[in-house]
Amino acid sequence: MNETIKLLQNRRSVREFTGEKIKDEDLELILKTAQRAASSVNGQQISLIVVRDKDKLKKISELSHNQKHIEECDAFIFVLADFYRSTYAANSVGKRNVGPKTADGVVVGAVDAGIMVNAIETAVNALGYGMTVIGAIRSSLKEFSEMLELPQYVIPIVGAALGVPKDRPLSRLKPRVPFDSFVFFDKYDAKKVEEGVEEHEKDMVAWRNENNTSQLPSYKEMIVRIYENPHNKLVEALKSQGFDVLDEIEEK
Ligand SMILES: Cc1cc2nc3c(=O)[nH]c(=O)nc-3n(C[C@H](O)[C@H](O)[C@H](O)COP(=O)(O)O)c2cc1C
Repeated sequence: MNETIKLLQNRRSVREFTGEKIKDEDLELILKTAQRAASSVNGQQISLIVVRDKDKLKKISELSHNQKHIEECDAFIFVLADFYRSTYAANSVGKRNVGPKTADGVVVGAVDAGIMVNAIETAVNALGYGMTVIGAIRSSLKEFSEMLELPQYVIPIVGAALGVPKDRPLSRLKPRVPFDSFVFFDKYDAKKVEEGVEEHEKDMVAWRNENNTSQLPSYKEMIVRIYENPHNKLVEALKSQGFDVLDEIEEK
């Protein structure tokens, strides 16, 4: 099989690290490779902040629901939606930038961040390291904005906890919903989606039993845990970073 396809098909989140360091030159290569990721209008609405200091990693872990793998990783990368750069560009020619004031701008920042974190993950895996995407930073956006001294129009969207992976053989990769309830041709099929959920629920329960991880939630349990009530409160943090989303902005 093609090596890149093999890499992508075998990707998984790695949450156990040996404690060894990522070589500096490898980290630089990962970051430089990630910078080639696509961005909307090449506006490059993303900046990265890398943290390797152990005390700071501990703090990031605490602010992200005490996730052990954050404390134990070798490097944590914050992926920031960054409209400071394009606001400067617009202001430098005497114009305004309403990007961070619109829902479209927030979506653009989040999409660019997702593409970026995936590029980071692919580079990390290609070099034999492992990582987990960390969305839990969204529960402490205000604290992280202060810690990272972020200016207006910059907000963390997602993080990546990287390190040298410990060998942890799994029975198989974490299951996905059946392929035919994920990909459709020409039109959506809600029935297939519902059948897919039922099949996937059973498969997730089987997977957690195979791996002696009965403490993990099933698919349905996880969905309820996250979506039954509002999970993260972002509006205030977005506002305080200048992402003050309005429906109507006067045309210029
Ligand atoms: C946006 C996003 C946020 C995530 N946040 C976390 C997180 O905070 N902690 C964590 O351990 N895993 C996190 N994950 C990893 C997912 O739990 C993981 O990708 C999923 O369970 C599938 O497992 P796999 O990556 O091993 O295939 C996140 C993944 C994404 C894409």
